[in-house]
Amino acid sequence: MRDLGLAGKVVLITGGGGVLGSAFARGFADHGAKLAIGDFVADKAEAVAADLRSREAQAIGLGADVTKEDQVTRMVSEVVGRYGTIDILVNAAAVQIYPGKEITEVESSEWDFVLGIGLKGIYMCSRQVVPVMKKADRGKIVNIASIAGHRGLPGGSAYSAAKGGVVNLTRQMGVELGKYHINVNSISPGFTPNRLTSVNQYAGQPDDSSTTLPTGVNLTIPPLGRNGDIEDYVGPVLFLASAWADYITGADIPVEGGRMAAR
Ligand SMILES: NC(=O)c1ccc[n+]([C@@H]2O[C@H](COP(=O)([O-])OP(=O)(O)OC[C@H]3O[C@@H](n4cnc5c(N)ncnc54)[C@H](O)[C@@H]3O)[C@@H](O)[C@H]2O)c1
Repeated sequence: MRDLGLAGKVVLITGGGGVLGSAFARGFADHGAKLAIGDFVADKAEAVAADLRSREAQAIGLGADVTKEDQVTRMVSEVVGRYGTIDILVNAAAVQIYPGKEITEVESSEWDFVLGIGLKGIYMCSRQVVPVMKKADRGKIVNIASIAGHRGLPGGSAYSAAKGGVVNLTRQMGVELGKYHINVNSISPGFTPNRLTSVNQYAGQPDDSSTTLPTGVNLTIPPLGRNGDIEDYVGPVLFLASAWADYITGADIPVEGGRMAAR
């Protein structure tokens, strides 16, 4: 079987200090990639990078807010300064506001906050990384969307809007960047009840204690008979970042146990 071809590839992961971002990072490191872990919380980024280095991988941690142009510029130039290029960008930074509010109760500042990180942040990072990829005449971008980008959820208007935007921005970027041999795809993870980000993140405080579905969200078990585990999302991201996905662009892979197929 052909190797995934990730050995030596330079991977920048935003939100890389988070639960999924760090799992993606470990997956890439296991395949010999060089990692740059970006996160709003610099300590989390550095902790993930330190863990990767303890596994013999090359990794750096960088504090950067994806909504701030100067910080994104610095993050990208530090990665290029360290590794010479960026082959793969994984846009995983996002926040949810759960338990959510109905549309009339969402403050415009909350709306801007969620859309700013989850959607505009992808534009902010991609516009800095794409020129690096264009120089190399190749690249892979994997955006982390959500099942919420494909359906409505009680109390999730800003998040659903952001993730629906991610799915279509992925299509758009795939169309625009194909001529530079830059593939842009997304995955839409399903619900991971042991890891739902919460309202506390609005205050910039990630809440690892949230273990239940948000109020008003009543989901049946998907056809595959269980909700998602963190590791379920790693393989699809590595695949889309690899040479195995050279002929896929502008696509979204639902990774949610078949829930959308069953509705
Ligand atoms: N966990 C799930 O069930 C689930 C389901 C569907 C989609 N997703 C998506 O997967 C991605 C990762 O989610 P997660 O569960 O690992 O959440 P997480 O909260 O563990 O990770 C998100 C990371 O993004 C960082 N971040 C927040 N604001 C930032 C900013 N302005 N700039 C840079 N970094 C910032 C946080 O510090 C955090 O480390 C997100 O895009 C999320 O929407 C998650």
